[in-house]
Amino acid sequence: METSMCERKSNVTSLILVAAIFLSSWALTGVHGDAAPIVVCDTTGCTIGNAYAYWPDRIPCHAASVVYPKTEEEIIQAVAHAVKHNLKIKAGSRHSHSMTKLVCPGGDNGIFLSTSNYASIISIDKEAGTVTVQAGTQLQDLIDALAESGLALTHVPYWSGLSVAGLLSTGAHGSSLFDRGSAVHEYVTEMTLVVPAPASENYARVVTLREGDEDLKAARVSLGVLGVISTITLQVKPLFKRSVELVMEDDDDLEERIEAYSKEYEFGDVKWVPSLHKVIYRLEKRVPLSTPGNGVNTRFQGSVLSSIKAARAQENHAETTKQREAKCSLATSRLNAYLPSGAGYLNNATTFTGFPVIGLQSDISTSIGCSSTSAENRGLFCDWDPRIKGRRDFFETAAFVPVRSCPSLIKDVKALRKEVPGGLCNVDLYDGGFLFRFVKQSDRAYLGNAPHEDMADVHFDYYRGYDATTPKLDEDLVSELEQMILYKYGGKPHWGKNRNVAFEGVATKYPEMEKFLEVKMKHDPHGLFSSEWSDAMLGINKKGAPGATKVGAYCALEGLCVCSRDEHCAPEQNYFCRPGRVFSSARVCRHEVAESAQSLLA
Ligand SMILES: Cc1cc2nc3c(=O)[nH]c(=O)nc-3n(C[C@H](O)[C@H](O)[C@H](O)COP(=O)(O)OP(=O)(O)OC[C@H]3O[C@@H](n4cnc5c(N)ncnc54)[C@H](O)[C@@H]3O)c2cc1C
Ligand SMILES: *[C@@H]1O[C@H](CO)[C@@H](O)[C@H](O)[C@H]1NC(C)=O
Repeated sequence: METSMCERKSNVTSLILVAAIFLSSWALTGVHGDAAPIVVCDTTGCTIGNAYAYWPDRIPCHAASVVYPKTEEEIIQAVAHAVKHNLKIKAGSRHSHSMTKLVCPGGDNGIFLSTSNYASIISIDKEAGTVTVQAGTQLQDLIDALAESGLALTHVPYWSGLSVAGLLSTGAHGSSLFDRGSAVHEYVTEMTLVVPAPASENYARVVTLREGDEDLKAARVSLGVLGVISTITLQVKPLFKRSVELVMEDDDDLEERIEAYSKEYEFGDVKWVPSLHKVIYRLEKRVPLSTPGNGVNTRFQGSVLSSIKAARAQENHAETTKQREAKCSLATSRLNAYLPSGAGYLNNATTFTGFPVIGLQSDISTSIGCSSTSAENRGLFCDWDPRIKGRRDFFETAAFVPVRSCPSLIKDVKALRKEVPGGLCNVDLYDGGFLFRFVKQSDRAYLGNAPHEDMADVHFDYYRGYDATTPKLDEDLVSELEQMILYKYGGKPHWGKNRNVAFEGVATKYPEMEKFLEVKMKHDPHGLFSSEWSDAMLGINKKGAPGATKVGAYCALEGLCVCSRDEHCAPEQNYFCRPGRVFSSARVCRHEVAESAQSLLA
């Protein structure tokens, strides 16, 4: 086991030093697709990053050491070491694609356990229809290996540059109300975890949880707080094909159609571009393996550096000059190019000739895109890559609301659009507006996102500035939508996405939270796998924990708080804390020309 143990000095200079080395090493390693190192160590300790430039609160997270186990035995040693010395510990994947700070060990002196080198497929059992993998296995590697054996996962996230343990731990999903639905953890039949143990058991033990064990309901979606997931067994199916057809329509009757539509296509989703009054329905279904077609999915394929920078420069310009119209014309040109270009689908290995695109489940259900070395070799990069000066920097809101609430939510968004024509172009130019994806009701995971009824994950991205104090064009509208989804519709935030503010009080939205915490107490009684961040999410230690939100000057601009005073916005730049326009309980930062200026204009 490679280790880099070192003591941490906790003075400010050493923090600055770590940050400087962190940044310069990116510059030195050159740009490798999505492969920015998330862990950088020097003699003072280690900084843990994610695949993006910084964490939602922009505060780096630290660990005293990092371990890269290659075997379960080495995981046991690492956990035992942490328990014996009462150190915090947390596991995370090679690239760490979740936005939330869940991979950070608590405090500053913990251990980060990377699954980079613990990523092999252990066995494929064709007869039983199962596959067993090590925690760090990349989803794309798993899909490829299964396809070679004529097998497939039925439901996966839309991007395959994720580790199996990481995607399960945050409840990642595709879109479906068929079967057990689209959440990957629904198909977990067995897991082994390495958890803390008393000295009499040498400080660590291996726990195997099987179908029927109540504790498996805690382990399926565990936010990394139960212990280190070692191996995972998933149910798989014989390989099949899918047919994808994307159809654009006017959005007049979206609220009337969405519920019925959610049940119509096995892999359907809805992409809504409200400011342009358009919807793209995904008519995606299963077809027999014998159907002709070798289509592939190349979404997230990345872009050349010049176009990433040009796109950001255009947006920056629209922001600084406050030109809503410029954003709308960007959104329009992106939407107009979307379907004619195939939206990332190809009918064969090289060319898009038209929908439907038919291909193997393994080629069409998801894509690794810009995270692959082949993208890198072609000069294509993920536009969020933190090493790119002039990268896309964005906020992401994603929360699960009941499918039956979608019609009402859609009407509210339409009312907001009417208040400020063009104001939602902000959202629409980011991979096309709102994505609705479906997740089926289930009680198989305590922290699963659909405990009571079928849900829609409503997802949208929007502009983030490179600094924390600059207000964004029409940011009152996105904040109103965020609060509307979270509070009016009781949205459950996706554990791996969102701004901090989304997690305030989230624990109360999970009816089985108590049961989850009981299992956590049983396996990790001293909270070594807990952090300030996970405590805030789980509603543990409310008094002592700082919570997800951080109230202070400018906090609402970064989604670190809901504003209650003007200084939480940017009053000196004419952004004031105001009620929402449609959801009047919302409190948002709105640009208003000061009264004296208004009277001058009159
Ligand atoms: C381009 C892109 C597209 C995406 N598409 C989707 C999508 O379609 N659907 C969706 O739901 N999500 C999607 N996501 C979000 C993604 O699924 C989650 O952020 C996921 O958690 C990231 O997985 P990771 O392997 O990077 O995990 P990490 O970020 O490394 O870790 C996530 C969590 O898993 C825990 N963890 C990791 N390994 C272990 C282990 N061995 N033992 C215990 N805990 C562990 C960590 O502690 C942490 O709590 C997307 C993200 C990106 C960047
Ligand atoms: C893909 O299809 C296009 C258009 O039909 C064709 O010209 C091309 O040769 C095909 N490529 C491969 C690799 O089959």
